[in-house]
Amino acid sequence: MIGIFDSGAGGLSVFREIYKLLPEEKFVYYSDNANCPYGEKSREYIIDRARAITDFLLEKGADIIVVACNTATAAAISTLRNEYAVSFIGMEPAIKPAAQLTRTGVVGVLATAGTLKATKYIDTREKWSRDIKVVEHIGQGFVELVENGTTTGPEAEAVVSRSVRPLIDSGADTIVLGCTHYPFLSETIVRTAGRPITLLDPAPAVARHLLEVMQEQSLVRKDGFSMELHSSGDMKTLQNIYDNLL
Ligand code: DGL
Repeated sequence: MIGIFDSGAGGLSVFREIYKLLPEEKFVYYSDNANCPYGEKSREYIIDRARAITDFLLEKGADIIVVACNTATAAAISTLRNEYAVSFIGMEPAIKPAAQLTRTGVVGVLATAGTLKATKYIDTREKWSRDIKVVEHIGQGFVELVENGTTTGPEAEAVVSRSVRPLIDSGADTIVLGCTHYPFLSETIVRTAGRPITLLDPAPAVARHLLEVMQEQSLVRKDGFSMELHSSGDMKTLQNIYDNLL
């Protein structure tokens, strides 16, 4: 069984890609929406939540866990890997493919404050941005829009444009979605950009990596699809996004 968790419903954007490659597996998903957003929380707090959620997913029968949250990956994945025997698959900001794709030489990154200040992110950026310029912006209010189910329309556009415009004005033609909630705002991000841009979501690469690890560890069972959804708070948004996902 594949365990997946996020601070909220954002991890479902990763599940969607995983399901394309592993449609006959059993899944258990945990949304920590009672404690969402993680973006401004301390590293220690996120590590504690990640431990508690891991225990819950293992109890449910997970034999591999996807940390479908960039913020939790940056804060907690190395601790989790040290403390548990199961494998953890995390998120990686797609700066490398963005550096290869950009024509203006400027790559925009949208992520949470927690991700942007984490060593894990800074190391990735340093490694792949030698020949390009990287401009960053916190997706201020983006997670809340998705959790409230407001992903399109004037309110979403007003919030999204405040973070997207500065990237476009700096010359970015390629934008890395560094938070798993943001793919649900893709349409609004493209609309507010006002000119053609490429959005890069690392979820397909994460799904391919998960498949490889599961093959190596003989964890691919193909014993029929099922999904159990759990959350620490209200289930409404999670269920609603899930019902419209596949
Ligand atoms: N989906 C989480 C991420 O990828 C959102 C973090 C938050 O709750 O602020 O970063």
